[in-house]
Amino acid sequence: MKGHAIAGPSLALIKYWGKKNAIENTPATGSLAVTLAGLESRTEVSFDDRDSVVVNTEEQPLGRFTAFLDGLRGDLGLVGRGLAVVSSNNFPTAAGLASSSSGFAALAGAVAALSGVEATPERLSALARIGSGSATRPVFGGFTVFDAGALAARPEHDQRYWPDFRVVLCVVREGAKATPSRAGMESSRQTSPYYQPWVDTSPALLADARVALADRNWGRLGPLVRQSYLSMFGTMFSAEPPLIYWQPESLALIQTLQVLRREGFTAWETMDAGPQVKVFCPADQSGALVAELDRRVPGLRFLTAAPGPGLRTWRTEGVSP
Ligand code: PMV
Repeated sequence: MKGHAIAGPSLALIKYWGKKNAIENTPATGSLAVTLAGLESRTEVSFDDRDSVVVNTEEQPLGRFTAFLDGLRGDLGLVGRGLAVVSSNNFPTAAGLASSSSGFAALAGAVAALSGVEATPERLSALARIGSGSATRPVFGGFTVFDAGALAARPEHDQRYWPDFRVVLCVVREGAKATPSRAGMESSRQTSPYYQPWVDTSPALLADARVALADRNWGRLGPLVRQSYLSMFGTMFSAEPPLIYWQPESLALIQTLQVLRREGFTAWETMDAGPQVKVFCPADQSGALVAELDRRVPGLRFLTAAPGPGLRTWRTEGVSP
């Protein structure tokens, strides 16, 4: 018997950075995100004598997974059962393309499917949170909100809400990132003088962005997206030691986008805990945008994604190996 799940990454327009409660893994700042189509974490889980986790054919140290698997077992009635997890991503892993959001959401979904428990999306979202805060969000498709202090994310608008919405992912580096987001957040909280102002100003950003999204208004949404990621990076740059996820090409893209906006593009970038730059834009501009970015900052890989579906899970019968 196997449990299976597929999840897309959740890319935040308004960012979560910092924990309200580190034990419960609840966020200090509310986030607004879009679940992406076409990029996928696929996970299957079966019972075994011991736990094991294989990601993209490589066996992983259990460290980060043990507490998560224990949490899933406790909630889903599987205490004492070993779990063999095999997962793969069809996009760069652990490099700031939100693979932890899709990976942990898919893992929660696959274990729930294996258990046979009929878990609601809210329950799956809360379970995914134990693995990674951002993993609460892609349980739902389309646009999602994960409020400060919340245990689960909630759907805001479904996958079909804004057909004109695209994300161009600019892959600056394919390798894994230097500092995991969990450690980075904690360092920002403990050492950055700008951490508290970041937390204090984020509710207004989230509220304004939800209104702009409700209007499908690029002109209002774009500057809020930019304000959110640059404020978040303010807490990283001012941490001790500073957290610098950017690479030269990241800055080149940011500056190029400033020029492209002046030239008439409706394109607003964001970044996460890694060097990749992700650009939100209308569908009919995405092709020309990729062409211009490629011409002005050569040598990068670009992926374009639309809003996608939420978590899909199923179970197959048969003898586990
Ligand atoms: O859930 P984590 O630990 O991968 O943290 C996500 C943090 C950011 O990607 C930087 C922001 C976000 O809201 O996704």
